[in-house]
Amino acid sequence: MRSLLTLVPAIAIAASLAACERESDLKPPGGAKPGPAAKPSAASSAKVAEATMASTELQEELKKLKPLPKRMDIEKNPATEAKINLGRMLYYEPRLSKNHDISCNSCHDLSAYGVDGKPFSPGHKGQLGGRSSPTSYNAGNHVSQFWDGRAATLEDQAKGPILNPVEMAMPDEKKVLETLASIKEYVALFKEAFPGEQDPVTYDNLARAIGAFERGLVTPSRFDKYLTGDKNALTQEEQNGLAKFLTVGCQSCHDGEALGGTTYQKLGKMNAFAELKDFGRFDATKKDDDKFFFRVPSLRNIAKTGPYYHDGHIKTLEEAVDKMAWHQLNVKLKEGEMKSIVTFLNALTGDLPTDYIKKPELPKSGPKTPKPDPS
Ligand code: HEC
Ligand code: HEC
Repeated sequence: MRSLLTLVPAIAIAASLAACERESDLKPPGGAKPGPAAKPSAASSAKVAEATMASTELQEELKKLKPLPKRMDIEKNPATEAKINLGRMLYYEPRLSKNHDISCNSCHDLSAYGVDGKPFSPGHKGQLGGRSSPTSYNAGNHVSQFWDGRAATLEDQAKGPILNPVEMAMPDEKKVLETLASIKEYVALFKEAFPGEQDPVTYDNLARAIGAFERGLVTPSRFDKYLTGDKNALTQEEQNGLAKFLTVGCQSCHDGEALGGTTYQKLGKMNAFAELKDFGRFDATKKDDDKFFFRVPSLRNIAKTGPYYHDGHIKTLEEAVDKMAWHQLNVKLKEGEMKSIVTFLNALTGDLPTDYIKKPELPKSGPKTPKPDPS
């Protein structure tokens, strides 16, 4: 990151200022206390105003953003059609919840870009958790899962919500497996998905199946066409917005194919947020240095996945961008600059894989299937 200054001499000091300190800032001494508010960077406006994608420096920066792959598979969980089909059913399966009324899709609605549009998501008996539901799209290659990164992979992640008392509220893995084993068709589908296993209806296999399905939740957009060489795939306004995004330095954190998901970063890095209650990554590691660090979220489909931030307290994308520039990069954006970046972000809205996400018919309960439990 230090190299940004030499690599891109023409770029706003604001961007390099933030980027320069990034490595050391990952482990700030004493960690928790944000320093006194820095002075807004005066360098931004002129540079941001004149930024265009014709600049070779920005073309260099653009390389930090990557097109989406077709799927995001991992070696540890090879995808087969049988596994994906089972995972799709389980994703939509409300009988994985205590009262048979909540599925993964309740909070990560695949027809609504993988979110429920609420600051906090109602789970069992309408209880609310303390964080906003991130999208389940394009998450397969994130460095870790959850706002605090406490799950390493999608497969690890999928085991959490089913047993979380404020989400799907199943009492234990045993109850989940009892339920699945009582449904004849599921037993057959697990056998097909995990051939050669003596007793394939396991909690690990459930997570593998859901993970294999989620690894195909990928939403390519016009931006991917642009990245792979079709320079007309974005309008001139969108390209101008992209130039501003890169000049200000958003890609120092929102990079890679998801424009995020690759690092943990301190929220309020340059200018502290006044009322930050959530310690973020600290919750997972208990290291003081991790206080207020969050796994950077993806910006794919960001126009569709509000409200914003880990606690969903920001309603509009305009406000989300404006605050990002100030708190993360020490740049006060002019209204036109902010809007221009938002115009670019809108171009990250991709195509939903409508066939892939079609809700399958779920198998009928058997005589031994536990009944819904509203308690
Ligand atoms: C009651 C709502 C609710 C249900 C049901 C639910 N989730 Fe979530 N999900 C959340 C919330 C809230 C978070 C963020 C929690 C956190 O970071 O601490 C989350 C995080 C995630 C993430 C992490 C995404 C990222 O970028 O870090 C994935 C993937 C995910 N859920 C998939 C699932 C799957 C699969 C299921 C079903 C087995 C499921 N969720 C059920 C609310 C829900
Ligand atoms: C120093 C790292 C860093 C920089 C630079 C940065 N961001 Fe972020 N961004 C984050 C983190 C961390 C979050 C998660 C916020 C939270 O946990 O509430 C985030 C969240 C967001 C969100 C909300 C995502 C969601 O799903 O709620 C948007 C939109 C966003 N950033 C856009 C931008 C833009 C545009 C820029 C450039 C002006 C930018 N960011 C610069 C680290 C950064």
